[in-house]
Amino acid sequence: MKNTSRLCSHKPIVTVNGQFPGPTLYAREGDTVLVKVDNHVKYNVSIHWHGIRQLRTGWADGPAYITQCPIPTGKSYVYNFTITGQRGTLLWHAHILWLRATVHGAIVVLPKRGVPYPFPTPHKEIVVILAEWWKSDTEAVINEALKSGLAPNVSDAHTINGHPGPISSCSSQRGFKLSVESGKSYMLRIINAALNEELFFKIAGHKLTVVEVDATYLKPFKIDSIVIAPGQTTNVIVTADQGSGKYMVAASPFMDSPIAVDNMTATATLHYSGTLTSAQTTLTTLPAQNATPVANNFINSLKSLNSKKYPAKVPQKIDHSLFFTVGLGINPCPTCKAGNGSRVVADINNVTFVMPTTALLQAHYFNKKGVFTTDFPGNPPSVFNYTGAPPTSLATTNGTKLYRLSYNSTVQLVLQDTGIIAPENHPIHLHGFNFFVVGRGVGNFNPKKDPKNFNLVDPVERNTVGVPSGGWTAIRFQADNPGTFYHFFSRTMFSFSYCNYLPRTFHLCTSSGVWFMHCHLEVHTTWGLKMAFLVDNGKGPNESLIPPPSDLPKC
Ligand code: C2O
Repeated sequence: MKNTSRLCSHKPIVTVNGQFPGPTLYAREGDTVLVKVDNHVKYNVSIHWHGIRQLRTGWADGPAYITQCPIPTGKSYVYNFTITGQRGTLLWHAHILWLRATVHGAIVVLPKRGVPYPFPTPHKEIVVILAEWWKSDTEAVINEALKSGLAPNVSDAHTINGHPGPISSCSSQRGFKLSVESGKSYMLRIINAALNEELFFKIAGHKLTVVEVDATYLKPFKIDSIVIAPGQTTNVIVTADQGSGKYMVAASPFMDSPIAVDNMTATATLHYSGTLTSAQTTLTTLPAQNATPVANNFINSLKSLNSKKYPAKVPQKIDHSLFFTVGLGINPCPTCKAGNGSRVVADINNVTFVMPTTALLQAHYFNKKGVFTTDFPGNPPSVFNYTGAPPTSLATTNGTKLYRLSYNSTVQLVLQDTGIIAPENHPIHLHGFNFFVVGRGVGNFNPKKDPKNFNLVDPVERNTVGVPSGGWTAIRFQADNPGTFYHFFSRTMFSFSYCNYLPRTFHLCTSSGVWFMHCHLEVHTTWGLKMAFLVDNGKGPNESLIPPPSDLPKC
């Protein structure tokens, strides 16, 4: 815990190595990473390496009670994984309670030595972490909300690399300074580590050339402002082409619904070398909170690079065609006084996920019965109609239900926002995989018409995607964790030898696992907008996962 002050007030926060945001993890594609997490705080903790595929190393994925039990106070655990077939910007964060508010940091995976970026090498690279700040303790914020049955308080400010910025009266001079030299290009590795808000990001007087999202390369394009959801990452190139001066760098919320959000704009300064500190800062106006067209313009510009070296391997044939509704509901809660005997919950296909007390991956591996069921519905229980009459009951079913996918099968998943109670974007994150975003629209998904317009050539590949408010998103992926044979046998020599060194060559290059999928707005995750896929190669639960490490925390 570390006493920290922002916005004229102090509070103890949970930090990693005393830093907020936490330290950057630098690695190269192909590296094996070992991180020892020593728990010195009063909470149980676990850390997730968001976007790292964890091929065969599900034990290192990190979500508490999904792939591991949390690390108790005074204990430690070594996360051990190899980064295969990936390079780019990702993030790590606590994956238990609301500790992610302050326990987060960047993961920078550089290409293998001697492999250039598919765009001109920037002069410098800078990590830019966007987040939120609460004056009160975030665990208290969510606990109060759960007691009352109502929505939790919103944050008091947004932050850029830990600071609200010079515009906040209490944080003067403490904003992040991005120093540049005239004529040079900089790559910003932008990460949204906020708990609950999607954000616009913009720099006065400078265009952003977007080259990568979620550690996958794009066809580069220029734009004024980007939009980034919690869990997403975006690399942009900024050329210092204004000669001199100081320019405002800013982040503010995007929410295409009338829900109250913290309106404060976080600011930082882009500072040309040779410019006096006392010089006036050139300001900029951010898109309005509900500027959906601005967000759509950005989202619709995202296309996979799809080059010879980095092909977009979009599944063309589908084995599992799934349709999941995502949204909110209301369940009875006799003790919820403020909520008048009921509480807000969230669900996928009307199932509000109940966290188990044994980690699902352990239950799967050791064949422990009674922890989960595999009857997660592939379709909503009743025909969904967004534009029709709202359902008579907003109640959901509670359960720890998983959906079983056979190893290496292909999946098309349409995620439809129900818009029940409140239309909101839901940034859905899938652990263990990247997926292709093949389509997106407003209103009801039309299974006859909409697939005709799917992009099956160069759709963006990511690990977290926004389901638009009152609309749908379609994704495709291959349940191949570990990253397809293509990755193993032709893309990385390291993995090639790795697979061959181990005794059961073929099986060891396949994997079963439990992969969490959830809304990355933490409040929605807490309310139950989550489920998990069980990827099984049909050869028994122990097949092809590496055995659990001996220090894996006990439940
Ligand atoms: Cu970044 Cu399950 O989360």
